[in-house]
Amino acid sequence: MRWWFVGVQASLNLLLVWLVVSLLGGSLASSLTDPFLLLFLLFSVLLSAWCASRLGREWVREINREFRTYVAPAFEDEGRLDERAFKRADELRKTLQTTADKYHRRIGHLSTEKSRLEVILESITEGILVTGQDGRVQLINRALGHLFSVGEDVYGRPAAEIVRQAAVQGAIDDCLENGVESEVEVEIGGGVARSLDVHVAPIFNGEQCVGAVTVFYDITRLRQLERMRRDFVANVSHELRTPLTSIKGYAETLSDGALDDRTAATRFIGIISTNADRLNLLLDDLLDLSRLESEQFRIEKRVCDLRRLIDSSLTTVRAPAESKGVALQFSMEGEHSVLCDAQHMENALTNLLDNAVKYTPEGGRVEVGLRLKGKRAWIEISDTGIGIPAADLDRIFERFYRVDKGRSRAMGGTGLGLAIVRHVVEAHGEQVSVQSEVGRGTTFGVSFTRI
Ligand SMILES: Nc1ncnc2c1ncn2[C@@H]1O[C@H](COP(=O)(O)OP(=O)(O)OP(=O)(O)O)[C@@H](O)[C@H]1O
Ligand SMILES: [Mg+2]
Repeated sequence: MRWWFVGVQASLNLLLVWLVVSLLGGSLASSLTDPFLLLFLLFSVLLSAWCASRLGREWVREINREFRTYVAPAFEDEGRLDERAFKRADELRKTLQTTADKYHRRIGHLSTEKSRLEVILESITEGILVTGQDGRVQLINRALGHLFSVGEDVYGRPAAEIVRQAAVQGAIDDCLENGVESEVEVEIGGGVARSLDVHVAPIFNGEQCVGAVTVFYDITRLRQLERMRRDFVANVSHELRTPLTSIKGYAETLSDGALDDRTAATRFIGIISTNADRLNLLLDDLLDLSRLESEQFRIEKRVCDLRRLIDSSLTTVRAPAESKGVALQFSMEGEHSVLCDAQHMENALTNLLDNAVKYTPEGGRVEVGLRLKGKRAWIEISDTGIGIPAADLDRIFERFYRVDKGRSRAMGGTGLGLAIVRHVVEAHGEQVSVQSEVGRGTTFGVSFTRI
């Protein structure tokens, strides 16, 4: 805006005011010839010009000040660029670059840390659930997803909807409200029943609890093993108690005077001896089993002739079979060599043959056969005995499991024979199968790899 334009504009404004005043007080013509008006106009123009020149000078002063402060330092007196100003600018540029590099490295480091944490979280086999202060899901890992059959779409949903366990939800609520750690054990259903040990811990930001981390440890296997150990101890105690009670009872009867009755005494001593044998058998089987189950147990595979293996097993059961009136049959064509630990495998086959003879009534038949298919061979031991009910077939390989406890015990059985068989066969990397029909007979098969 030029200074004179400011003056003219100010004068026109004043004239307009004058005209309005005049029109209100008299005619326009008389107003224009009025000397006061002319004088007034002249005065207003001079005043405006003076104002504009002042305004202009003030602007120039302002610009000079800005120039001196911000621009002039960059030039030397002779109009050359000031080296120091450039140096300062370069230092500033370097400082900014160093800071940028530092942040770049920090961001890179943080993102590496983040992916590392994600990998760790995903590889942890325990289920992890992180909830915010509002009890809603902020993070889960894959293990938790599997445990509760949920995907990543659970983010933001209340934890109670995923876990659906009052005890766990109670522990999370308590943790969020009071910032306390707690541990609960729960059983969850679904496809497979599982025992979970759940640990809830608070996340603090200063003094304030801002969330909770819940870790789910799957202790199903541990609980199973504890149950098995309890059952095992109970079974062993029970098995030991029966013969021991018998031995003690007959020994007391003898000492109470039965010794004088020679016939009775001979019978009682026979019973004591049978029960002592039974105890011995039980201890032998228990020792065998514990050896087979120990970590140090290794089978030693060597080239074995199948015929010799079966012959030695048959030798052990031939006498009991004959005395019971059970026919033993075995026929095999050709020579067949397999890789196996002869001592342990012979023990397993003897157990199967012993069962076949034991559970086949008088007049029955036990057959040992060989089935071949490529590199595979199966020794099959079939009997025409009492058979095994379908409901028991899955359990007969468990320790101490017997279909008819009374009958087995009466025959001196401990219920450990088939458990030993399974251990030996599986240690060879082979399998044992069973097929049976109540009243018609049973067939056990053991597989071998031929060489
Ligand atoms: N050939 C078979 N015929 C019918 N039942 C069988 C036969 N083999 C095994 N069983 C059943 O399986 C159960 C478990 O067999 P296992 O050999 O483990 O124990 P056991 O023969 O009772 O005692 P042990 O072999 O320790 O002296 C037996 O009690 C019996 O009920
Ligand atoms: Mg047996």
